[in-house]
This record gives sequence, C-alpha cells and structure tokens, in this order.
Amino acid sequence: MSIQQQPVAGNAAAGNAESAEASLKQRAAVLDRQDPLAHYRNLFIGTDKPLSYLDGNSLGRPLKRTVEDTGAFIRDGWGGRLIRGWDEEWLELPQAIGDQLGRAVLGAAPGQTIIADSTTVVLYKLIRAALAAVSDPDRNELVLDTENFPTDRYLVEGIALEEGLTLRWIETDPAAGVTVDQVRQVTGPRTAVVLLSHIAYRSGHLADLPAITQAVHDAGALVVWDLCHSAGSVELDLDGAGVDFAAGCTYKYLNGGPGSPAFAYVNHRHVGTLNQPIWGWMGRKDAFEMAAGYEPAPGIRGFLSGTPAIFGMLAMRGTLDLIEEASMAAIREKSVQLTTFAIEVFDALLAPLGVELATPRGPGERGSHITLDHPAFSKETVAALWDDDVIPDFRAPHGIRVGLSPLSTSFEEVLHGMSAIRDRLLR
Ligand SMILES: Cc1ncc(COP(=O)(O)O)c(C=O)c1O
Repeated sequence: MSIQQQPVAGNAAAGNAESAEASLKQRAAVLDRQDPLAHYRNLFIGTDKPLSYLDGNSLGRPLKRTVEDTGAFIRDGWGGRLIRGWDEEWLELPQAIGDQLGRAVLGAAPGQTIIADSTTVVLYKLIRAALAAVSDPDRNELVLDTENFPTDRYLVEGIALEEGLTLRWIETDPAAGVTVDQVRQVTGPRTAVVLLSHIAYRSGHLADLPAITQAVHDAGALVVWDLCHSAGSVELDLDGAGVDFAAGCTYKYLNGGPGSPAFAYVNHRHVGTLNQPIWGWMGRKDAFEMAAGYEPAPGIRGFLSGTPAIFGMLAMRGTLDLIEEASMAAIREKSVQLTTFAIEVFDALLAPLGVELATPRGPGERGSHITLDHPAFSKETVAALWDDDVIPDFRAPHGIRVGLSPLSTSFEEVLHGMSAIRDRLLR
C-alpha cells in the first residue's frame, strides 16, 4: 500500500522537499566529518558497501577482527589444545568476559556478571532467584508492564502459574514507556519482584533506572532489569543504582553474533545467597568432582547450569575492547546525535506524509532506536526495503524500527535509509 503525495502546493512543495533533502545531505556529511567515533565504522565487515543497515539493535554487524579471532580459536585453541582448553582457559571465560562487560558497559565491579544461556533462560533463572530471596510469604505479586518484550511477559506469566503468584500489569503507552510514578502506584507490601525493560523494544523509551530501582526498593521488593537494548548503547551504573538483578543479550550492540549467549548481573548483596532454579553440573562446586548432590559453586559461578557456549562468546570480546577504548560516554553521545538526526530527517521527509514518531522526542528519554508508525507500513514494506539493501525492521502493527549502532552507523547511512522509506511510501 502506498499513499498519494498531497497535490496542494504542486511544484513548490516538490521544490521544498528537494531543498530539505539537499540540506539534510550536507548536515549528514558534516556530522560524519565531525564524528570522533567515525573511524570505528571501518572496523566492521560490510560498511564499505552502499547498504543502509538500520537493525544493529536486533543483530549487530560483525567486526573484521572476529574472522581472525574465531579462526585462531579454531586453529590454535580448539584444534591445538583440544580438551585441555577447558582447564587452560575456557572454564574461566564466562566470568572473565562477564567481568570485562561489567567494567566496560554495566558499571559493575568484578564477580557479579557472567555470560550464559539466552536472555530468556537467564531472566527465568534471575526471576526465580529473586523470588527465592524474598522471605515474606505475603509478597505474592509480580509486577511487569504491557510494553515489556514478549519473552519477558511470557516468562512472568509462566512463573506466576508455577508459583501461584498474582500478576500486576502496568499499562504502558506504546509510544513511550514505563514511569517512576506508575511503578510507585502498583508496588507495595504485596510486591515480590518487578521485571522491566530499561529501553522499550518498540518505542525505544529509556526508563529512569535509578529512580525506578529506588521506588521498588522503597516498596520492599526486588527488581530485575532487562538490558537487551541498553548494553552497549547507553551508560549504565548498576552498582551505583543498587540494581538487584539484570540480564541482556550480546548480539545487538555488543556484536556477539546470531545466538551469542546472554549475560546475567547479580548484585554482590545477592551473589552469596544466590538460589537459581536450574541446578546443573557447571554451576556446582567443583564440577569435575561429579559428586552426589548439588552444592552451588561460590560466587557468580553458581549461576551457570550447563556447558558454557565458548565459541559463541568469542566475538563480543572484540566489541568490549572497542568500548573500553572509545568509552560508553562517547558512544552514548553519538547515539543521541544519531537519533536526533534521525528525528530531524523524520520531521523533514516523513512527518509531511502522515508518518508518526512512536518514540520520545527528549534525547534523555530514548535509547538508540526510533520507531516510525504509518498505516501503510507492513511486513511487505520492510521486505521490499530489504530487497533494496535498506535494512530496518518491522514491528506490528504498523511500525518500522530504525536502529542506530553508534560504533558502526554513519549519519549518511541514516539519511539514505530513511529517504528510501519515504520513497517506498510515495510509490
Ligand atoms: C528486550 C529483549 N528482551 C529479551 C529478548 C530475548 O532474548 P533471547 O532471544 O536471547 O532469549 C530480546 C530479543 O531480541 C529483547 O530484545
């Protein structure tokens, strides 16, 4: 489905649109020239091609060094050291990379972060661990919001059934996100655990993590944060905010690759008493003792269950090194510039065609993607864009999500992609 261009001002309107686009082109060029992180783009595979990748918030591009790193691992590590690799290095990797992630991205001191499982499984383990840490039997409510990612909603619904708990839903505006006031309204002496996304997967709304964490604690409850869209795009200080538990994926802004394992953060307050529900041999004290009965390994290692996905956690190390070099502060600054520019392009090229911005306008209230809504946007619209090497993603019912990855996205790429969305609408 396409829409008709307004015939009202005829040639004059067409002339204005052309000059708006010309000035946006100039601005994109200036922003790219002035971008202190611009040189990082060349470190990613495929950035020399005339393709507009606007979905790094679903699957980040691979770094060129990942080809070398994984090749060397196959040749020298797996191929050379064979089973000895576990003792020599691999068994420690989930914690070693977790600590680097904690330092570079999460604002977490060592010993609280581990790489494991998928986000879904990690969230399940964390929510159950959080519930196990709540001693008051009158606390039988789980709080979540309607704009939480589907896996989060399904998990909490399943856990509520398993444990006989009540769900308290926060009704969130789909073009915005959950607020501190909403959290304060639904939490109280019956609240056990609150599960929220820091950045809403659809609108890109950035929740006030420190204030909401405080509100949950004021109610005497525990909080679990989903950081999938935050890790590598916004600055985080989990220790500073006193967050209890958090999880996130590593295949978005951390470029870990399709299906790379997730991370779990457990605040040191809870690490010592961590009681997660999947008791596997890798989370046991001295796994290779293979003794009777489960005794959790001390520290964050007790969060593990089965054999860690070593191969899947190699690629993210390249990005963590880059983040440590560039700093999350500089990455967040570029992210804000990218989304601000994308909104400028939206105002000039798409708003006049009736497209709506389903993302907060305040730079401090959004993460690194924006969502554009129009009744004509469908899966087919996005499929046609993909055929033309313009790659955003579709979110039902009528949203196109434009994801901007600060280390690999250029301003020119944003303009090229969003102009193509405009052109598709005019066909
Ligand atoms: C916000 C959010 N939470 C959870 C998930 C689910 O992650 P996984 O598929 O790794 O379990 C995703 C996946 O895109 C996500 O965006």
